[in-house]
Amino acid sequence: MKLIYSGKTKDVYQTEEGNMLLKFKDDVTGENGVFDPGANTVGLTMEGAGKAGLKLTTLFFQKLNKKGIPNHYIDSDIEEATMTVIPATQFGEGLEVICRYKAVGSFLRRYGKYATEGQKLDGFVEITLKDDERQDPPINEDALKMLGILTKEEYQVIKNLTVKIAEMVKEELIKREIELYDIKLEFGKDPDGNIILIDEISGGNMRAYKEGQYIPPMELERIVVSS
Ligand SMILES: Nc1ncnc2c1ncn2[C@@H]1O[C@H](COP(=O)(O)OP(=O)(O)O)[C@@H](O)[C@H]1O
Ligand SMILES: [Mg+2]
Repeated sequence: MKLIYSGKTKDVYQTEEGNMLLKFKDDVTGENGVFDPGANTVGLTMEGAGKAGLKLTTLFFQKLNKKGIPNHYIDSDIEEATMTVIPATQFGEGLEVICRYKAVGSFLRRYGKYATEGQKLDGFVEITLKDDERQDPPINEDALKMLGILTKEEYQVIKNLTVKIAEMVKEELIKREIELYDIKLEFGKDPDGNIILIDEISGGNMRAYKEGQYIPPMELERIVVSS
């Protein structure tokens, strides 16, 4: 297998069958040893984090398949911490699509003049460019079109899928009395040109709280997978 990309939390390989294999590492994003799903650096390494992220990702992707929501999942090998997926082409050099139910993280840092921490946000969707060098700048629909990154139609499809997927995750967490504050998704185009969800859905790309208390990624995985 050929290593084609080494990311912050995963290594990406091309398989002999022409699929893609994501190897989940034990690295998580954050700064100075503190986890932060919005960070652009590896903040800490925790034994078992890769497997935990993959378990939760697998559970959510299987649920998406049951609902017929298009995604890249083919199968997972939990022991090896790998997931085989459909290779997709990204929009530009990649987008992050965030759905927010409560104001925390970068939303609060940007709009703190008007927003208060934990304020309800009604599943607000926003897009940022994957651009570590420029701290993932937010970008709106008009600019995405103008820069040739997304058509109006693609924007709408991505926005609608984001709301559906975030709702599914939110409902799964509510069953465990856990509240989803925000979640970050990635999309690409499959070889037939369909827009599909790619990457992962784990504690590493969402913020979840129980009784007002933030739940770190591995704890979230333990609660969700075991119940
Ligand atoms: N199905 C897919 N097709 C193409 N690229 C993908 C797919 N799923 C995930 N990726 C990409 O693989 C990389 C996964 O590694 P990760 O460590 O998360 O990278 P990053 O540091 O860019 O966040 C990401 O760049 C993600 O966009
Ligand atoms: Mg990533």
